[in-house]
Amino acid sequence: MSTSANSNKERVFIFDTTLRDGEQSPGATMTLEEKLQVADALDEMGVDIIEAGFPIASVGDFEAVVAVAKQVKNATVAGLARAISADIDRAGEAVRHAKKGRIHTFVSTSPIHLAHQMKKTEDEVIEIIARTVTQARNLIDDVEWSGMDATRTPIDFLKRCVETAIKAGATTINLPDTVGYAVPEEHFRMFKSIIEGVPDADKAIFSVHCHDDLGLAVANSLAGVAAGARQIECTINGLGERAGNAALEEVVMALRTRGDAMPFYTEVESTHLARASKIVSAASNFPVQYNKAIVGKNAFAHESGIHQDGMLKNAETYEIMTPASVGIKETTLVMGKHSGRAAFKDKLKELGYELGDNAFQEAFVRFKDLADRKKHVYDADIVALVDDEVGSVGDRIRLVDMEVVSKTGGVHKCNLVVTIDGAEKAVSYEGTGSVDAIFNAIKAASEQDPHLVLYAVDGVTGGTDAQASAHVRLEMNGRIASGNAAEPDTLVASARAYLNALNRVMIERGAAAQGALAG
Ligand code: KIV
Ligand code: ZN
Repeated sequence: MSTSANSNKERVFIFDTTLRDGEQSPGATMTLEEKLQVADALDEMGVDIIEAGFPIASVGDFEAVVAVAKQVKNATVAGLARAISADIDRAGEAVRHAKKGRIHTFVSTSPIHLAHQMKKTEDEVIEIIARTVTQARNLIDDVEWSGMDATRTPIDFLKRCVETAIKAGATTINLPDTVGYAVPEEHFRMFKSIIEGVPDADKAIFSVHCHDDLGLAVANSLAGVAAGARQIECTINGLGERAGNAALEEVVMALRTRGDAMPFYTEVESTHLARASKIVSAASNFPVQYNKAIVGKNAFAHESGIHQDGMLKNAETYEIMTPASVGIKETTLVMGKHSGRAAFKDKLKELGYELGDNAFQEAFVRFKDLADRKKHVYDADIVALVDDEVGSVGDRIRLVDMEVVSKTGGVHKCNLVVTIDGAEKAVSYEGTGSVDAIFNAIKAASEQDPHLVLYAVDGVTGGTDAQASAHVRLEMNGRIASGNAAEPDTLVASARAYLNALNRVMIERGAAAQGALAG
């Protein structure tokens, strides 16, 4: 918020690319429903620009950018485009539905990209920049130009590129550390030299876009800001290709907590960070590491005796920000099996969910079922249950019934009933253990044979009656998808997570692969 405390500070714009660079991460593919949920959370949180996708990539990507553009109330919605005429037209077509739209076009600038990927000379790249930025500006007033692999580009050529982009009408200049190679001082120098050395640099906003291959994405982003950049490109939970992008929650909280050392502020409402992290983790099916800064389960846990002693005497002894400032609430006991629809609806609202009638009805049935089986139902249980529900909308293959017979040193067998496109199918299959038997039974029923990349189980809350949260990542025909499910029974959670991943891996990026299923 721009309060009086910010009056002597300069504003930094937050450009979130969770739905584009984040979603590009193998296995993080989101459904349209999930993208809209994430966009909603970002918009409510006060993010300035939401990069909603890469419209030319597929019909599904295009439709997702259009849907986000139509839904978002406050933020600018950006669509990515290569320096290709058709890409720019497609991005323009998608973002014109937004109240405020932006075309974000990029081209490689580093010698290694020019020589091996683009096979272009520097002069040819300059011509491409002038032509494509002009084309984008003829479609829309808000155009961002990125020089891909900028941090490995000779500074004089980078200056020529930036000058050309500004002359052609780019309003934002982004200099990405595409391969996560920069170190903070060098990053600072690059921005300073460009901002001070390029004519008309003040006509554009400069932007940082850092990848975390060396764990320096946030440090580099802040160094860029110190040198004059006023936009940070980042993702929730640091989601993104390879080691990911700069984490939005980290840059926002670093600027907020250390305003004394860095005179900048953002308009992001930090109390929304924890919820946004949960929504993105559920939508992308990428668990958040326990010790992740700001939003990890342990980020505010004080286990050691000395720390606990200090905390009890004065929280500031070991706490530089409060859990409440990032939206972490005390785990509360919510309701039991006698709670009715109205109470459940109120609780959902408090947790930030507004479900349509059908989704509410399904969530309520699952809540009642959970409350019958689990004595204490916590906020975290409700969040897991609803995120699960949203994540499985549109699944073609669904669990109906499952029985697992398991004996120490003996047979492990799963009798499974699923529906495939509504038609019921029953199979029995054995495995080397219960989970193996379940996964084999699902493969037999679906007549699919994906490769299991990851299987992990975690507790949603503490206690032996806690719901199990299962994560599965599958690879099939060159596609990777992840699935999530929470259930009191670990085996059922595992089966549902596997099915969730299988449903996703059978979906082409954006468009359903027809006829992929037997049944
Ligand atoms: O990392 C990168 O260079 C990018 C560009 C497309 C902006 O994501
Ligand atoms: Zn990137």
